[in-house]
Amino acid sequence: MKKQKDFLALSDFDGPWIAGLLDRAIEMGKSPGAGGGRPLAGKSIGLVFEKASTRTRVSFEAAIYQLGAHSIYMNPNEIQLGRGETVADTARVLSSYLDAIIVRTYAHERLEEFAGNSRVPVINALTDKHHPCQTLADLMTILEKKGRLAGIKAAYIGDGNNVANSLIEGASLMKMDLSLACPEGFEPDPLILEKAMRSAGGEIVVLRDPKEAAGMADVIYTDVWVSMGQEANAGEKKDRLRDYQINEALLACAKPDAVVMHCLPAHRGEEITSGVMDGPRSVVFEQAANRLHTGKALLERLMAS
Ligand code: CP
Ligand code: NVA
Repeated sequence: MKKQKDFLALSDFDGPWIAGLLDRAIEMGKSPGAGGGRPLAGKSIGLVFEKASTRTRVSFEAAIYQLGAHSIYMNPNEIQLGRGETVADTARVLSSYLDAIIVRTYAHERLEEFAGNSRVPVINALTDKHHPCQTLADLMTILEKKGRLAGIKAAYIGDGNNVANSLIEGASLMKMDLSLACPEGFEPDPLILEKAMRSAGGEIVVLRDPKEAAGMADVIYTDVWVSMGQEANAGEKKDRLRDYQINEALLACAKPDAVVMHCLPAHRGEEITSGVMDGPRSVVFEQAANRLHTGKALLERLMAS
């Protein structure tokens, strides 16, 4: 039996599909009961998380409950995956019990192997390469704050990581302009960048100067300098990224009504100052709240029949 679609990267979808999902998420956000009753009643959804998570885990577990389904959280230390059972065998077995599986792991290839052996949809809850569920909430937040996505100018300042890669794909699909400022050696994935630059979407550029990237931006975005799994060279990364902080001086380069975004968790005083994060232009906590609404809309789109 051919399974329904996985959600591994945004580039597997098109702009109208994402736009429809965002409209539904906004509707769900305005009216928490807007799940159409319990569209996933009787279903069981697994969460296999090989890394820590606050937002992704808890928003998905709440979303699953609100849609009428049952969630089962698994960390590798509690299942045989942590004792050497293969990813393929784990996926084959779990997908014979569950209706969808949400996976957070390290290498993106590990997620692809999981999905390739699963009989049910697999959702990417973050890999070292992509964080597409985060981008859905980011796009929803920008749409709510700015009223549109096409033509919006966003600036991403800092490490060209998984969050940056997915933001590039999302911006390209929704025809936003995105300027990234990253130090040499910390640029986003070259293939993702090249594909986005070649597409008919908005203009995507990588610069060195954060002020140039932030110039007249509608949205200023950052993420941690040291992602999960990169702790070994944390000191060097922080040194190289020191000039890529979102602070008042950088914010002054953006449009007066620019909003500040961060996927969280934040390391206050490193990639963003507390003053900016708690300031009037910060939308980071609304952005985090939108993880619930976009998570619900995504599960409904992928699973409700
Ligand atoms: N933004 C995000 O994915 O947060 P968590 O790591 O807490 O899930
Ligand atoms: N880039 C960060 C995002 C956390 C939500 C990480 O991978 O740790």
